[in-house]
Amino acid sequence: MDAVAQSRTDDNLPFEVPAPGKLILFGEHATVYGHPGIAAPIDIGMRIRVSRDPQGPRLIRPRFKQYFGETEPESSFDLFSGAVQLGLSIHNLENEPIALEVESDLPVGMGLGSSAAFSAGVCKALRRYTGHQGGEETLFDEVQQLESIFHGNPSGMDAATVLADSVLWFRKGPPREIRPIEIPTPPSGLICIVEPGGSTLELVRMVSRNLAGDEGRVKGLLEEIGGIASQAGTLLGAGNLVETGRLMNRNHELLAQLGVSTPQLDRATALLREQAGVLGAKLTGAGGGGAVIALTAPGEQHRLVESLADQFPLVIPFTAVHGTD
Ligand code: MEV
Repeated sequence: MDAVAQSRTDDNLPFEVPAPGKLILFGEHATVYGHPGIAAPIDIGMRIRVSRDPQGPRLIRPRFKQYFGETEPESSFDLFSGAVQLGLSIHNLENEPIALEVESDLPVGMGLGSSAAFSAGVCKALRRYTGHQGGEETLFDEVQQLESIFHGNPSGMDAATVLADSVLWFRKGPPREIRPIEIPTPPSGLICIVEPGGSTLELVRMVSRNLAGDEGRVKGLLEEIGGIASQAGTLLGAGNLVETGRLMNRNHELLAQLGVSTPQLDRATALLREQAGVLGAKLTGAGGGGAVIALTAPGEQHRLVESLADQFPLVIPFTAVHGTD
């Protein structure tokens, strides 16, 4: 071990950095084509722990909770490991005696930003380990590089959201727009885990194939989704949750027409709207399975969790992180 590594290890370790997940409230898939999206960091996430490990550097195999009895594919560990390798090489830490360990409250592979949270957590942890000061403007690019290992060519909305501390407006650009939305009350509601999630990479590719095959129709759907995100930004700013919920329902219909919903996700959103009386419901993230989100009146989410507990494998109340207070 060299002198630099020794002093870093003695000074710093062990420590833990939090990494929140995200919800896409509006605009998934359309963001890939330059339309706006709205997303929020959530109060559910991961922690990345860095400790001394003479056999390091290495990632201790994360054990994520499985909801459908499936075993974790080896390929998913390879992706997490690949992201850590890239982070280590960005910071010239390929020979450091450290181990990274993940503890997650975030269901993985459900469209809730686990890969972005992991990427952000690793980048922040390695920066802290090296005593990296400032450079916030380069952090997004760093996280985006790690995210690309999971998702190919992401729009950047997920990376921007997990690094944010409020609900944000995102447009890929150029120029890239990442702006907090001024809102009177942070959106809250339910995350309902429905079925095993799809692959973001595959779903983004599928939309691209569909666009090439039926340009007029698919372009129109993506434009309408972008338009909805713009309107939702204004409505959220005005505190109009009822109309925001209606737009969420429409956004789900458009995602279904885009081909990224599933019969189970459609059933779940219908149940939430018709039986639970939520303000709006839609799939979140790339789709192809995973979770749906429902917007509720503030405070309602906790009551609804109990009444819906036997309808879904897991129902989690959320409140969007908004501001640092
Ligand atoms: C995935 O969380 C969101 C997508 O819009 C892809 C992206 O924006 O990179 C489907």
